[in-house]
Amino acid sequence: MKGRGVILFPMPFQGHISPMLQLANILHEKGFSISIIHTRFNSPNTANYPHFRFYPIPDGVSENYVISSDPVRILDFLKSLNSNCQTPFRDCLTELITTTSEDEDPIACLVTDVLWYSTQAVADDLKLPRVVLRTTNVSSFLALVTMPSLFQKGYLPLQDSEAENEVPELPQFRFKDISLFKDPGSFLEFIDAVVRETKASSGIIYNSCEDLEGEFLTKNSNYFPIPVFLIGPFHKCFPASSSSLLPHDKTCISWLDKQQPKSVIYVSFGSVAAIQETEFLEVAWGLANSKQPFLWVVRPGLVQGSKWRELLPNGFLEMVGERGHIVKWAPQQEVLLHPSTGAFWTHCGWNSTLESLCEGVPMICQPSFGDQMTDARFISHVWRVGIHLESKIERGEIEKAIRRLMVEPEGQEMRNRIKLLKQKMNLSLKPGGSSYKSLNNLVSHILSLQSSK
Ligand code: UDX
Repeated sequence: MKGRGVILFPMPFQGHISPMLQLANILHEKGFSISIIHTRFNSPNTANYPHFRFYPIPDGVSENYVISSDPVRILDFLKSLNSNCQTPFRDCLTELITTTSEDEDPIACLVTDVLWYSTQAVADDLKLPRVVLRTTNVSSFLALVTMPSLFQKGYLPLQDSEAENEVPELPQFRFKDISLFKDPGSFLEFIDAVVRETKASSGIIYNSCEDLEGEFLTKNSNYFPIPVFLIGPFHKCFPASSSSLLPHDKTCISWLDKQQPKSVIYVSFGSVAAIQETEFLEVAWGLANSKQPFLWVVRPGLVQGSKWRELLPNGFLEMVGERGHIVKWAPQQEVLLHPSTGAFWTHCGWNSTLESLCEGVPMICQPSFGDQMTDARFISHVWRVGIHLESKIERGEIEKAIRRLMVEPEGQEMRNRIKLLKQKMNLSLKPGGSSYKSLNNLVSHILSLQSSK
């Protein structure tokens, strides 16, 4: 009998939980039964998935922990999750494997976030094939894994004189787009573990598609000689709304209904990025001075320690009146789909980038760290569907960027280009499309893993 059970293990960040649960739904639709092992921290909303089984494990994270936007602290958090969870994960997986009853589907494989490097040893011990999910794209993963050699060659840590130069291995990027850490110490150790355990895995899935990133496939295979599957964009198959960790404020939609077509600038910096109080005020004034209607997601903690929008200047809300709408968390996919939305000022997290590309909404890029930097480079210089705000956040620059995108001919050209990308991406999921074919290959691969065990 062919194995039809898959166990998935997401990394507990919003931008990682959503694609993992979307993938789970995609595999479920292909006939697999789904079990999800998850940390107690940022636990998914299980009620939205009655067709899956959920198994929480202890993670050692304190109840009030707030994810930092500092890359060094994120790295430390990822490492401690990997070490804290290894034993509870082993216990849970062992229990799941040994208690599978006759009438249950045998388990074909484990799918974990690529950042759960400590799970490969567990999978090996239990003789369960592990496939990894890289929730972002191929190019940013290659940028990440190339960094150790750039440290070795002396290109990194970043020198001012090199900042604008192309990375020889990845000429789409400049050194400043991929320089994440000043001190290579603990980063090199982390990336070494991720690379080693990815190479030891039985395949790699990306939430991306060949029509966007086909040019990187050869380089990817040279680096990771394992099967690769680009089966995205996932959210076009299953929306991210059911995996949201925060409640969506639906007033956005009734407010958007009252605006002119393509007139609104939507602003959100995702679930982790934070800005300074002075930057927050520049964003506020830039939006106000632009004279465009705006929908702004001010996440509690967007400015460290802030509860919500209490840092806005006195009289600001009265001054912008109905022209501005501020919420804590928006139903982003619905917002991007809405005919009144004309542009997206984003931190360029990969989910936000994909959601914007798929709805044909051009972007203002305000990346903060990690893959956001390389995504911004692609948006502004490779696909040319957005403007990269590279200098410090300043009201005059913001006003200018909004005008370029919303009013000037340059914005219309970006709109035309993104429309073509949108068509390509949507076609990739249809029969005959690259992601459609790759998903069928993934299904056959998972089934073959079971029979070769
Ligand atoms: C994190 C990292 O910051 C990012 O670089 C990486 O690519 C993924 O992990 P995050 O900051 O959460 O991601 O951003 P993003 O990847 O864009 O994901 C945010 C998700 O939250 C999207 O699916 C978006 O639709 C949703 N969202 C965002 C909402 O539902 N409402 C909002 O108001 C804002």
